[in-house]
Amino acid sequence: MTTLKIAVIVGSLRAQSFNRKLAKGLIALAPETLSCSIVEIADLPPYNQDDDESPNAAVASFKELVAAADAVMFVTPEYNRSIPGVLKNALDHASRPYGKSVWDNKPAGVIGASIGTTGTTMAQQHLRNILAYLDMPTLNQPEAFIHVTDEMFGSDGSIAGKSKAFLQKWMDAYAAFVTAHVA
Ligand code: FNR
Repeated sequence: MTTLKIAVIVGSLRAQSFNRKLAKGLIALAPETLSCSIVEIADLPPYNQDDDESPNAAVASFKELVAAADAVMFVTPEYNRSIPGVLKNALDHASRPYGKSVWDNKPAGVIGASIGTTGTTMAQQHLRNILAYLDMPTLNQPEAFIHVTDEMFGSDGSIAGKSKAFLQKWMDAYAAFVTAHVA
């Protein structure tokens, strides 16, 4: 059985982040064929093109982890109707130096949770625009705009209630998508 490595990138640095909880919940729903790990973005400095040829340790490590992955899963909040700056910063870091992007052709999934009823729709649309430019084939359906509710996470942090069946469906579609792309 081939196991695919999935780099899970969470767009929030907040300790009690719902998106981090969602990412962990999704990882728990992943089939055995996927090995999912969160790749942290908190230590990345603000991107500066002057440092392209001599990236610091955090940048080099981040790029290595993305490069080693077969596919990527983005789990992000929406900030002011777009993606958080920290996520854009991570995308920019791993896209450079020019011609050496480690995102190139890696299949991606996009999902996100917010406390607003629109559930990250605008952020996801902006992210899809960036991923298209980075040449990352991206799962189109099912879309998953998650409106966080009190019942969504059990006391152990696992996904509970009505969300679980929907998120399992999303995870199954993501797994099939990345498997087809990597094959
Ligand atoms: C938000 N939030 C938010 N929610 C939303 O649905 N649309 C938006 O445009 C915004 N904008 C926004 C900007 C900033 C700077 C903050 C801090 C928050 C609210 C957001 O959904 C909420 O804070 C989530 O809890 C953020 O996700 P995490 O950190 O819990 O993963």
